Amino acid sequence: MSNNDKRFNPEKRHGLLSQERQARWNPPQFLQQFGLQPGHAALDLGCGPGFWALPLAEIVGPTGKVWALDVSQEMLDTLAEQQPPAHVIPVLGELPEIGLATAVTDFIWSAFVYHEVDGDLPAEMLRVSRPGGQVAILEWRPDAADQSGPPGDHRVWPDEVKLALQQAGFTQVTEAWRDANAYVITAYKGTTT
Ligand SMILES: C[S@@+](CC[C@H](N)C(=O)[O-])C[C@H]1O[C@@H](n2cnc3c(N)ncnc32)[C@H](O)[C@@H]1O
Repeated sequence: MSNNDKRFNPEKRHGLLSQERQARWNPPQFLQQFGLQPGHAALDLGCGPGFWALPLAEIVGPTGKVWALDVSQEMLDTLAEQQPPAHVIPVLGELPEIGLATAVTDFIWSAFVYHEVDGDLPAEMLRVSRPGGQVAILEWRPDAADQSGPPGDHRVWPDEVKLALQQAGFTQVTEAWRDANAYVITAYKGTTT
């Protein structure tokens, strides 16, 4: 199966901004666990229409920035319709390549996109991370009770994500959060500062 077959259908993009989803995830609160600070440079991989990128921009503030990367121009157009602040920078690009310079991010956020990407995404995440930079990957559990997201055989086990990050050279690779349906793996480039 090509990973294009796993890719989220952009025609369903407005559902990613639904009130039900906002209530489920409460992004401003959920993102608090990662210790982001004003002035941080964040990168939202597979940002979609901005469900996480907009609250990330609130947290890092105008002294920081959020690169919002997606392969779909429709997703980025829907993000633009919400009139994000100027420190949200849309990036049209196809992962695993991240068209940013080396060692520029303090935080990389990947929500429900890792399982859609072919190739060595962890290596690219490591390249663009600053020393001490953090990554956080939110994914569906293959054995989730709630199978309303991607099919079970598209999903990735937390141990697979952890191993890939360790093999890329990330440290402190941890399952930082989980519930019955999803999990977050966090990791750092080198030691935290
Ligand atoms: C399930 S949606 C999640 C969107 C957003 N992260 C969220 O949680 O609201 C997956 C997103 O990843 C994007 N995507 C999938 N494969 C990609 C790739 N290879 N490069 C960049 N973006 C990709 C899709 O266009 C889509 O916007």
